[in-house]
Amino acid sequence: MRKQSLLVMVLILAVAGLGVWLGKLRAEAIRERPLLQIHFDHHEHAAVRCATCHHNFLDGTGKTACYFCHKQDPELGSRIEKDFHMFCRSCHVDLAQRGFQTGPVRRCAGCHVESAGAGAIPGAAQ
Ligand code: HEC
Ligand code: HEC
Ligand code: HEC
Ligand code: HEC
Repeated sequence: MRKQSLLVMVLILAVAGLGVWLGKLRAEAIRERPLLQIHFDHHEHAAVRCATCHHNFLDGTGKTACYFCHKQDPELGSRIEKDFHMFCRSCHVDLAQRGFQTGPVRRCAGCHVESAGAGAIPGAAQ
């Protein structure tokens, strides 16, 4: 009886350990894959205040490029897709709903362009 429950314990620990290890591996893979090329033009966003996007200009996080921080920081790197989709789209969606001209809402290729090699983006892993 004892032996069996010990075996079960060991198995549970092994599975939990494997889970943690796979989680780490995934986070690392996300951080290391190169950033997708983004079409972002400041001219098209001239009506928006700098600090609406550049929180870093005001909150003292630093003056480097958005993607550098958001890609390199392990915590932020693993949620860059979610964070930036929310960030870019929510404004476009909001404006579109109010009938204004705005940027892409859903169409992947509206923001993700295939062009000039990666590395054009500051912070993109080489
Ligand atoms: C709608 C959001 C948005 C607005 C508004 C905006 N920026 Fe940016 N800015 C970005 C993004 C995203 C990047 C990174 C992508 C890139 O470099 O193409 C960037 C990059 C930059 C960079 C390159 C270096 C760095 O820190 O990444 C500078 C400098 C900059 N912006 C200055 C400004 C100034 C000054 C204003 C106001 C006149 C402004 N931006 C308004 C989103 C914005
Ligand atoms: C020097 C590092 C740094 C730079 C540069 C930077 N960020 Fe951030 N950003 C952070 C950190 C750290 C957080 C997390 C704050 C938190 O979780 O409370 C954050 C949070 C955010 C969030 C909110 C995510 C959430 O928790 O919902 C958005 C959106 C964002 N940044 C967009 C940008 C954009 C766009 C730029 C460039 C125009 C930029 N950031 C530049 C470090 C940076
Ligand atoms: C606070 C609001 C706001 C945020 C945040 C924002 N945008 Fe925009 N975006 C606009 C507006 C407004 C326009 C339309 C400008 C025009 O055409 O007059 C636009 C236009 C665009 C266009 C041009 C579409 C076209 O057909 O030419 C692209 C691409 C785009 N945005 C990408 C992005 C990306 C990528 C981000 C996040 C890094 C972002 N935007 C964040 C407001 C925003
Ligand atoms: C409004 C602009 C916008 C639209 C539309 C958009 N994305 Fe993104 N996406 C971004 C930005 C900005 C980032 C963060 C910067 C980067 O990864 O280059 C991002 C990041 C990502 C990432 C993560 C890249 C990484 O380095 O981890 C994936 C994957 C992705 N997008 C897929 C998609 C797919 C699939 C669609 C269509 C269903 C889509 N995106 C539509 C702006 C957009």
